[in-house]
Amino acid sequence: MLKTIAAGSLRSENVNQVVTLAGWVDRRRDHGNLIFIDLRDSSGITQIVFDQTLDSSMHQSASLLRNEWVIQIIGNVRERPDGTINPELETGDVEVIVSSLNILNESKTPPFYINKEEDSDELLRMKYRYLDLRKPKMQNIVNIRHQAVKFIRDFLTEQGFLEIETPILIKSTPEGARDYLVPSRLYPGKFYSLPQSPQQLKQLLMSAGFEKYFQIARCFRDEDPRADRQPEFTQLDLEMSFVESDDILSLIEKLYYDLVKSITPNKKIRFPFPRIPYKQAIEKYGTDKPDLRFGIEMSTVVEWADKTDINILKTIISNNGTVKSLSAPGCGNYTRGQISELEELVKNCGGKGLMWIAISDQAHSIEKLTIEDIKSPVSKVLKLHEIQEIASILSSKPGDLILIVAGQEKIVNQSLGLIRDHLGTILGLKDPNSFEFAFIIDFPLFEWKEEEKRWDAAHHPFTMPIKEHLDIISSDPSKVIAHCYDLVCNGLECGSGSIRIHSRELQEEVFGVLGYSKDEVASRFDQLLTAFEYGTPPHGGIATGIERLVMLLAGTDNIRDVVAFPKTQSFIDPLFDAPDHVPDEQLDELHIKVNHIET
Ligand code: AMO
Repeated sequence: MLKTIAAGSLRSENVNQVVTLAGWVDRRRDHGNLIFIDLRDSSGITQIVFDQTLDSSMHQSASLLRNEWVIQIIGNVRERPDGTINPELETGDVEVIVSSLNILNESKTPPFYINKEEDSDELLRMKYRYLDLRKPKMQNIVNIRHQAVKFIRDFLTEQGFLEIETPILIKSTPEGARDYLVPSRLYPGKFYSLPQSPQQLKQLLMSAGFEKYFQIARCFRDEDPRADRQPEFTQLDLEMSFVESDDILSLIEKLYYDLVKSITPNKKIRFPFPRIPYKQAIEKYGTDKPDLRFGIEMSTVVEWADKTDINILKTIISNNGTVKSLSAPGCGNYTRGQISELEELVKNCGGKGLMWIAISDQAHSIEKLTIEDIKSPVSKVLKLHEIQEIASILSSKPGDLILIVAGQEKIVNQSLGLIRDHLGTILGLKDPNSFEFAFIIDFPLFEWKEEEKRWDAAHHPFTMPIKEHLDIISSDPSKVIAHCYDLVCNGLECGSGSIRIHSRELQEEVFGVLGYSKDEVASRFDQLLTAFEYGTPPHGGIATGIERLVMLLAGTDNIRDVVAFPKTQSFIDPLFDAPDHVPDEQLDELHIKVNHIET
């Protein structure tokens, strides 16, 4: 090694030792006779000192050093003189008096600061990702990711799981996105697809008799960009035989609880994780990935609305619409501008508008409310007792703002869900030091795609319906509930899984409802259906996103922060400049002709 000790590990115990350090110049301060350098390596920073009175030619060389030059030094560790101790640094009690300097490499001036957290342009950060990754914050995140994956591997190995790799060059498995395709040179015109997940493969491993499988699996999905998505990402993929939902949920609950406690011991985490039926999550929070760090629950107020004289609400109800409401705590003094911002959220979801009732914080109580305590565009139409009634449904207090949205159920849930989330942010209710995990359970098996007029799998087609609904799969798909669950935390979907179908007949029936043709089933799923005929055991599993877990642990809402070499939000790699054109010879070998190129 070119060093005898890591820079970040020097302490008072090392005083009077001669050490060799190697690393980067993080900062240089020239005080005339003395030059101080913060020497950084992956373990931390130590101050080293060049003293002109001890060696003037070395002091001269040190004056040439610039940020990010790579150096090796030999020196003596000493206590820092009184008044110069730096409590901010773990090595702040000591410094190294340099007796020998060796410059290992020089550096151009980096395009952004490495020793300062500043908002540099993300594209630039990604183009020079190796410099971005040198920052202590990024090194820490990469370290957290390593710890999380190691914890998972150790925990599952301890529980008797085997880690088994599955192929990357494979055939399509539906997970709701487009496939990335890889042309085959040997079989012109044929393509592999990169796995959207190892779903069918892990089920085949159950058929193969591996009762507890896991994998830290790379997945590839060509889908619309979103803040919490990357086109290639990593899952903890897990499958077990002879299990029921509860076995998987208890295992994941323990794994996630222990992992969070071990890596971020100071954060709050509730145990056990609540299990919330899908229907209830939508009803209360308008979303199946609620942020449970705060309350603000919504209520359906159709009956209330129908009794009032607000005609627009009555019309919506008679057209099969719904009316839902929530109470924004302490927002009763919102200005028109602030309310317009909330209304904008409704409009962005395709909703028509937002009705509001502001209750003055001067009101004595909801029971003793007077009409002077109320501000609302519908205050003339509503009777006082009607306002009191909705306020009591929502448990509103003086000073609250009641918000009402009416329309198609999906739009109402989406828009009030967004408003709830927005309120959580602006009211500072999202405690960054708290993890509120929950399982969402009892998902429907199918969802109706209105534009395409067809049923789609709510999760994926391999999910087992509950026993009670086995005989209505084809006759009443809308009612079928599945043995399916999601792990959510702080508004993020962290994982998804289910008990799987393991009989050919049942799987074919589900494919039938989804409208897959016989040919399509034969070409895409024959291997799985055939395996079902050879003693495949009952099985189930889950996959959780490693990036989303690390985002939570590292306290970032930018998925690109937790991937060493990520793609931009428009799925470009600015470092390698990918995707890119390839030479014609390469295309010829693959028998591919590109006849339309976007520039
Ligand atoms: P699903 O498609 O829900 O389920 O994915 C499981 C989890 O993977 C993470 N995830 C992503 N993370 C980053 N970028 C993406 N583009 C992305 N897509 C998904 C999420 C998600 O909850 N085969 C099933 C699992 C199973 O049934 O066992 C599956 O892949 O955290």
